[in-house]
Amino acid sequence: MSKQDTHFFDVFSLVIGLLVVVAVILFALARSIAGATQGQEIYTEPDYLTSLEQRLQPFTREAVAGQNNAALAIVETNPAAGAGSALPIPTNGMQAFQQVCSACHGQGIAGAPKAGDAAAWAPRIAEGKATLYQHALNGLQADGKVMPAKGGRPDIPDAVIRQAVDYMVGLVKH
Ligand code: HEC
Repeated sequence: MSKQDTHFFDVFSLVIGLLVVVAVILFALARSIAGATQGQEIYTEPDYLTSLEQRLQPFTREAVAGQNNAALAIVETNPAAGAGSALPIPTNGMQAFQQVCSACHGQGIAGAPKAGDAAAWAPRIAEGKATLYQHALNGLQADGKVMPAKGGRPDIPDAVIRQAVDYMVGLVKH
């Protein structure tokens, strides 16, 4: 090797060596910073803890005789609408009418007194509000016509059903 080559080799080795040292220092620095800052807070988040708890739940649960097995009860959210369905629950009479009652009462389907039809409603209004409420809440069957209890939505609160009756009655009373 010539002297020049040796010199180049020394300098080159030195530069490579320095770069390796710098890389190792950067790596160590990044590790120490990340270890102190990244991900720590996740382990204390309520959402994370809940999901962790859920995943740690045993796969099956057994009822034990003589103990409180209430946690095993099957929760039926909306029996009328069937599993998995989450229909919005109307909060006032007009919403209930639009979402539920209008299916039959809107056009007077299946013998339902049509909303706004004074002649169809007059004899029913004559029965009195209490009877109308009672029939809307519990259903009514006559001459092959069926008014399902709560229009088929048992998940709607009674008060909202009464408001829906008021709303329909209001459409014919001027
Ligand atoms: C599946 C169709 C259907 C739906 C949905 C429905 N109704 Fe009816 N409703 C009827 C029919 C049919 C009658 C007439 C029943 C009869 O005269 O025997 C009726 C009658 C009524 C009456 C008159 C009762 C009476 O004493 O004469 C009221 C009040 C009433 N419905 C309220 C409601 C309300 C409030 C809703 C919504 C929450 C609703 N209905 C949804 C079919 C329906």
